[in-house]
Order: sequence, then C-alpha cells, then structure tokens
Amino acid sequence: MREYSPLNRVNVEPEHLPVMLEETLLCLAPQPGETMLDGTLGLGGHGVELLKRLSPGGVLIGIDRDPEALEQASKRLSGVGGEYRLLHGTFDRMGELLKERGISPDAALDGMLLDLGVSSMQLDRAERGFSFQNDGPLDMRMDPGAEESAASWLARVPVEELSGAIRRYGEEPQAGRIARAIDRRRKERPIETTGELAALIEDLVPRRGKKIHPATRTFQAIRIIVNRELDCLEETLGKLDRYMKPGGRVVVLSYHSLEDRLVKTVFRDRAAEGFFLPHPDGLQRPGEAEVRLNPRSRSARLRAVVRAGG
Ligand SMILES: C[S@@+](CC[C@H](N)C(=O)[O-])C[C@H]1O[C@@H](n2cnc3c(N)ncnc32)[C@H](O)[C@@H]1O
Repeated sequence: MREYSPLNRVNVEPEHLPVMLEETLLCLAPQPGETMLDGTLGLGGHGVELLKRLSPGGVLIGIDRDPEALEQASKRLSGVGGEYRLLHGTFDRMGELLKERGISPDAALDGMLLDLGVSSMQLDRAERGFSFQNDGPLDMRMDPGAEESAASWLARVPVEELSGAIRRYGEEPQAGRIARAIDRRRKERPIETTGELAALIEDLVPRRGKKIHPATRTFQAIRIIVNRELDCLEETLGKLDRYMKPGGRVVVLSYHSLEDRLVKTVFRDRAAEGFFLPHPDGLQRPGEAEVRLNPRSRSARLRAVVRAGG
C-alpha cells in the first residue's frame, strides 16, 4: 500500500488536511494553462495544490456557499500566486455564477472537484450549529445568509415528514420514535440548541457502547435537508457534461452512502449515454495511513470520470 504523505501537511491540524489529496491530484492531473473549478473550496486545502499546478497560465475557479470559507481560502490562495476567481453560491448554480463573471460555462473546464459535505471549520465551530459535541444554536446552514435554520425547520415540519426525512436522509431505524419525541418536546418549548436535540435523542436511543453518537444520523438528515445537499448534487451531476471540455476530468469525494450512491448512478448512466468515460483510477478509498492520521477521512469515497470526446 502506498504511504500517505499529504503534500501540504506542514502547519496544518490533521482535521484540516484535505481528504485524499494525492489521489485527487492524480485523477484531476492539473496542468499549467488549464482551467479547473473547485465547487466546494472550503479552506482551500485541495484548491491551493490545484492552483500551484495550473500556473503559469491556468485559472482556478473556487465556489463555496459559505462566505467565511471563501475568506479563509482567499488568504491561502493569495500566498500561492497564480490566477484564481472566487464565487459565492451553491455549485448547482455554477453556470450562472460563471456567466455573471463574464465566463461562458460551456465546455470551459479541464477539471472539476466536488469535495462534499461540511468542512472541519464548520463542524468545529459551535456557533455554526452542526455539532452535537459542542453545544451551539441549532443552525446548520453552510451559508448563514440562506433562508432557514435547522431550528426554524424543526419547529414547523409536520411530524410524518420529519420521520420520513430522518429515515431517508439519516438512514435511522429509530426515525419514527425520534420524530415523535421531537414533536412532543417542541409542543412544550422550541428546540434551540444542538445540545438539547442531542440530549433528547440520547435519552431515547441509549448508546449501548456503540462508537457513534445516537444523534449522528438525525443530525446528518437535518443538515442534508437544511442545505438541500442531495438536490444540489443531483442537479449538478446531471448537467456536468455541458461544462467539461472533451477529456476534462471530474472528481467527487463523498462521505455517506446516499451521496455515493447518487454519484455512482449518475456517472454510470451518463457514461452509458456516451457523455463520460470511466477514469482509470475512478474509484478509491483512503488508505489506512490517512485514516489513522485524519479519522474524518474514514468514510470518504472518491469517484472520477472523464468527459468523452477528448
Ligand atoms: C468538505 S469541505 C471542502 C474542503 C476543501 N476541499 C479543503 O480541502 O479545504 C466542503 C465545503 O463545501 C461547501 N459546500 C457544500 N455544499 C456546497 C454546495 N452545494 N455549493 C457550494 N459549496 C458547498 C461547504 O460550505 C464547505 O466549505
């Protein structure tokens, strides 16, 4: 097995390391002069390494829905030199975002990366409301300027819809019980913090020595709903071929089975229609050494395809 040696490991906490960096670079194969889009720029962990390889003459376009992430990434990218543009918004709007900047999106890209989910920065900051370990307001919006927080959604969603969402997006076998308990509690008082919600679920579904916190699946489900995560992904994957140049490489890193299943199905179907070819390194998981160093990489799956016609 290849030893794990992240290229920009220096001065970075393990949880901020870009996941499967070497594998991602291998699949995207950035070259000087090329244009690549990182649709989930985050703190710019992958972006910095892409930008270094696209220069001279190339451009990195970075999208993120979280303005704070863009600010942090901008600081790191500006230290690299090279040309980059940062766009605020969701990646399903990439065509419009590019047009707004005067860039025609059609067959514009040699490479695209989607490193899905939340960033370690979002998870670790209690005030962003993603974590059941650090008590904070029940928010969970990746873009804090977006419409509805988790607390507000939870206060109004009908109990059957809540139960269905927890079952579908959290794959939680206890979805019905959890939804009914949330319903009883919100009739007494609004659920406003991550700690309150986590404690409510833990009382209902005890840990029984299991490693994962009993609230993990419910938090995942609510986060997916609040941020329309699967809708954004499905919509984007369906129109990717339009934005890629012939021979352009697409890499998606996903972190749970719902995302991965969607990526696998769309890649397969679009390949059958002749839009994409399988990438020779197109399905990978992190090596043991990376998982040891950065446990958050454990669930990652990398899938890659190449735009046909190159
Ligand atoms: C896992 S992190 C990316 C980390 C990044 N690759 C790095 O190495 O620093 C995911 C980022 O994507 C953003 N994000 C998630 N879904 C998005 C979407 N639909 N559109 C735009 N940004 C999104 C999140 O705000 C977060 O900053």
